[in-house]
Amino acid sequence: MTNFNKIEINKPIKSFNKIIKIDGDKSLSIRWALLASQANGKSIAYNLLKSEDIISTLNCLKKLGIKYKFFKNNCEIVGLGINGFQYKKKITLDAGNSGTLGRLLQGLLIKSSKQIKLIGDKSLSKRDFLRVTQPLQRFGAKFKTNNGKLPIFINGTKKPKPIKYFENKGSAQCKSAVMLAALLTDGKTFIKAKKSRNHTELLFKHLSIPIKILNKKNYDYIEVRGVKKIQTLKYTIPSDISSSAFFLVLTALCPGSQLKIKNVNINPSRIGIIKILKMMGVKILFKNQRIYKGEKIADVFVKSTKSLKAINCPPKLNSSAIDEFLVIFLLAAKAKGNSYFKNLSELNQKESPRLKWGSKILNLMGINTKTTNDSIKIYGNPYLKVDKKIIIKDYLKDHRVFMTSVIAALAFGGKWTIHDKDSIKTSFPSFLKIINEIKK
Ligand code: S3P
Repeated sequence: MTNFNKIEINKPIKSFNKIIKIDGDKSLSIRWALLASQANGKSIAYNLLKSEDIISTLNCLKKLGIKYKFFKNNCEIVGLGINGFQYKKKITLDAGNSGTLGRLLQGLLIKSSKQIKLIGDKSLSKRDFLRVTQPLQRFGAKFKTNNGKLPIFINGTKKPKPIKYFENKGSAQCKSAVMLAALLTDGKTFIKAKKSRNHTELLFKHLSIPIKILNKKNYDYIEVRGVKKIQTLKYTIPSDISSSAFFLVLTALCPGSQLKIKNVNINPSRIGIIKILKMMGVKILFKNQRIYKGEKIADVFVKSTKSLKAINCPPKLNSSAIDEFLVIFLLAAKAKGNSYFKNLSELNQKESPRLKWGSKILNLMGINTKTTNDSIKIYGNPYLKVDKKIIIKDYLKDHRVFMTSVIAALAFGGKWTIHDKDSIKTSFPSFLKIINEIKK
C-alpha cells in the first residue's frame, strides 16, 4: 500500500529571495482560547492558529460546555465566566499531542465539581505531569496520575486556597497552570519563577486581571489575585517565532538567499533563536517594530551567511529558544568549529526526547556529536554536503523532528525519506505549502 504520510526530498533547494507569512503563534492561540472560556460573553481571535493542538483545545472546552465557531481563520468563543464550565458526569478530555493544553487546562479545573479524566496521544502519555499536578493539588484539588503521567483523574475543591509556588525549571507551562488556577481562588497566589515565556502575564495585564510582577535577573516574582469576572478578549494572533525559526535557519544555510517574515511575535522571552543566529554570524534585522497588547511584533529579515561561527551557547538562552534547538543544531553542524549546548535536560521532556533525536539526525548526516542527559557537543563541518540515503521514522511523530529533517534535506542535500508528514498539523499546518512557495 502506498504511504502518503511521508515525504521524499532528493535535491537541495536553490537560492531564494522571498516574503512569507507564517501561521499564528501556538502559545498565544491556546492561551487566548482558555482565557476566552473564562470571560462572560463573546471573545474573538483573528489569525488563530488552526492546528490540531488548537482544535484539541477547542474540543476540550466544548466538552466543558463552551461554544465556539470558526469563520475563515478567525474564531469566536462564548465564555461562561470564571469557573463557569457546564458538563456531564465523568467526562474525558483529550489533550491530543499538546503539553501546553494538557498542563494549562488543569489549572482551570481545580474547582471542577465532577470528576474529569484527562488523556492524550502516545507522545503526550509519555510526558511528565507531576510538574503541574503537584503544585495544583496544593490549591486543594485532587489529582490521581498514572505514575506522574496520563491518564489523570481530577476532582476539584469547592474552595481552593491560594498558594506560594517556586517554579525552578523555567517552564512557562507550569507557571501558567498555576496562574490560571490562582484566578479561581479568593486570595493572592505568589509565584517565584525561573525566566520563561511571559505571554500569560501579558494577557493578564491586558485583561486588567490583578497581577503584580517584579522582574529580577534570573527569576520573576509574580502575584496573582483571584477574580470574580474577566473581560472578553479581541485579539489578533501574531506569527509564531518557533515556526518562523525553520525558515530563518533554512535561509541562513542556503548561500545567496534572503527572506522577510511579516508580523512575527518577537517577545523578548522567545527570541533566543535570534540571539543565537546573530552569535553564529547570521545577519538578521527587525523592521517595523511595534507593541500589540503588550506583545512585541516586527517583520524579520534574514540573509544567508558564508561562514557560520561555532557557539558555546549560554544556558541563560535555553528557555527562550527551547523549541528551536533541533533546528539550531543544523546551524552548528555547518559551523566552523565545535559547538556546545548544555543544561538542556528539558529538551528530553518534549514531544520526543529531542537531544537524542537532534543528535541522531546529525549523525545520519555524517556529523559527530557527543551527548549526555543534558548536553550536546556538535563537531561542525563548514563544507558539509550529504549524498547518502537517510530515513527518518519512529520519532513519536514529533512535528519539530519532521520539520528539522526537511530543512536539513533542503539545506544539505542527500536522498531523504521522512515519515509522518501529518505531524506538521499539530503546530504548523502550512509548513510544506510555504516550502513550496519558496521553491517556486
Ligand atoms: C510553551 C512552553 C514551553 C514550550 C511549549 C509551549 C507554552 O514548554 O516548549 O512548546 O506555551 O507555555 P515548557 O514551559 O514546558 O518549557
